[in-house]
Amino acid sequence: MHPRIALTFLLCLAVVRDVSGMDAAALWADQVQALFDVKCIKCHGPLEQKSGLGLDTLAAVMRGGAEGEVVVPGRPEESRLYLYLDPNSDPHMPPKKQLSDAERARVHAWIRAMILATDPPRGRPLLRSPLSLSP
Ligand code: HEC
Repeated sequence: MHPRIALTFLLCLAVVRDVSGMDAAALWADQVQALFDVKCIKCHGPLEQKSGLGLDTLAAVMRGGAEGEVVVPGRPEESRLYLYLDPNSDPHMPPKKQLSDAERARVHAWIRAMILATDPPRGRPLLRSPLSLSP
C-alpha cells in the first residue's frame, strides 16, 4: 500500500475506534450529554421543557415528549431525536440553528449503540457495540 494511503487508512481506523468502541452509556456521558447541554437544554431542560421534552438527563430523554418517545433504541433513523436534526426536517432542532455533521454523528452513534445496552442478556455484562474493533 502507498504510505500516504496507509496513513489515511490508519487515521480513519483511529477515529472509528474512538467512537464505536464505547457503549451507549459511555457515549451518552462522554459525547451526547455535553452537546445537549450546550445546544438544547435552554428549551428542553430544568427551566423549560418545550413540547414536554427534557434533554438534561437520560431518564428525561427516554421519557419522551408531548408526542411520545423520541428515541427508538438502536434505530436512529426512526428516532425523532435524531431525525429532527436533519437540515430539511420539519420540525427542525435546534429551531433556528444547525448542528454540524460531526455533532449529528455523535447522536446517531449513541442511539445505535443502545440496542445492546437496553436489552442485555440476563446476568451478563453489557455487550459492546457491534462496530467495536477492540475486545
Ligand atoms: C429555542 C428553543 C429550542 C431549542 C434550543 C431546542 N428545541 Fe426542541 N423543541 C422546541 C419546540 C418549540 C418544540 C415543539 C415544536 C414543534 O413541535 O414544532 C420542540 C420539540 C422537540 C422535539 C419533539 C418532542 C415531542 O415529543 O413533541 C424533539 C425530539 C426536540 N425538540 C429535540 C431537540 C434537540 C435534540 C435539541 C438540541 C439539538 C433541541 N430540541 C433544541 C424548542 C427548542
